Amino acid sequence: MNTRFLDACWGKPVDRTPVWLMRQAGRYLPEYMRVRSNCTFLDLCKSPELAAEVTIQPVDILGVDAAILFSDILTPVEPMGMKLDFVPGPVFENPVRTMADVEKLRIPEMEEDVPYVLEAIKILRRELATKVPLIGFGGAPFTLACYMVEGKGSKDFAQIKRMMYAAQDVYAALMDKITAMDTEYLNAQIRAGAQAIQIFDTWGGILSPADYEKYVLPYTTKLINSLNKAEIPVIHFVKGAGTMLDIVKKAGGDVMGLDWHVNLGKARDVLGPGMAVQGNLDPTVLYAPKEIIEQEVKRILDENAGRPGHIFNLGHGILPTVPPENARFMVEAVHQLSQK
Ligand code: CP3
Repeated sequence: MNTRFLDACWGKPVDRTPVWLMRQAGRYLPEYMRVRSNCTFLDLCKSPELAAEVTIQPVDILGVDAAILFSDILTPVEPMGMKLDFVPGPVFENPVRTMADVEKLRIPEMEEDVPYVLEAIKILRRELATKVPLIGFGGAPFTLACYMVEGKGSKDFAQIKRMMYAAQDVYAALMDKITAMDTEYLNAQIRAGAQAIQIFDTWGGILSPADYEKYVLPYTTKLINSLNKAEIPVIHFVKGAGTMLDIVKKAGGDVMGLDWHVNLGKARDVLGPGMAVQGNLDPTVLYAPKEIIEQEVKRILDENAGRPGHIFNLGHGILPTVPPENARFMVEAVHQLSQK
């Protein structure tokens, strides 16, 4: 088993910098499209064998040092009582707007309501046993609330922000319920065999640092503190958090995910030596010629300057039109340029 990824999460020395890509299983891979052509995205998430198959594809094709469970951050929200569709972005038919809507949400029984997620993890641990560790994941409470209240993606997030400022009791009740659900969901993944957990807060950066601290931090902190994680590293990725890493750090976790708007070296100076980092190549660099991909990989490795506790990744998910060959080249460049 290649333990480079887990070792780097704990800040231990590694022979080469480990690398994986957010959204590494997906539409840019023809092998994924072949599986996906016979079913919907949700069918794929709900079929443990197929989910396991597409989880492993990028491990074999790209040579990455970790696998991430194939699912979606919204998978456990559907059994809370929200009808979910992907078109291909997520859409909820019945967005949450009032206290009555929040009261109607239930906290799923994970073993009964999302058995396919836990089954996929068990299959994957067997199939990955001699390969790489398996990362489980969930959405941070705020990002889940964004989709549940907006009902879909948004440009201005007016609905969730209106609730946050103008209906504080409804917002707090919703965030409490999501945090409770998330705790159950991630602990169930850990029990099933997930070897690391990543929390995706894709929209945490749409708030001012003061509002992040007031309206988001308490919930993510509670979530991270409630995970049974003595031996499980927690990666906390808040997109757009470059100017408030000192605040985001207070949520806990072992690894801070970084997007490409920060200099990785400066981010490490702010975070201090006790916290590992993950990131942070601009995903569009994978459209560049190989010399530029290599230059950009080298720049980020140089910013890290040999400090232990760096996991190389993109600063956000891989884009669906990236040539797989460029992703493979990037992974190889990280391994080659960081070889001790
Ligand atoms: O990283 C991986 O390879 C694991 C799988 C994974 C998916 N979604 C698969 C997926 C993970 C970790 C996610 C997380 C996720 N989902 C996030 C957080 C990370 C981020 O990208 O910000 C968010 C915000 C979502 C919600 C979501 N799901 C959106 C906005 C979309 C549409 C995206 C698009 O590009 O159209 C999805 C659908 C989705 N999730 C797809 C995949 C592979 C595409 C579905 C398809 O095959 O049609």
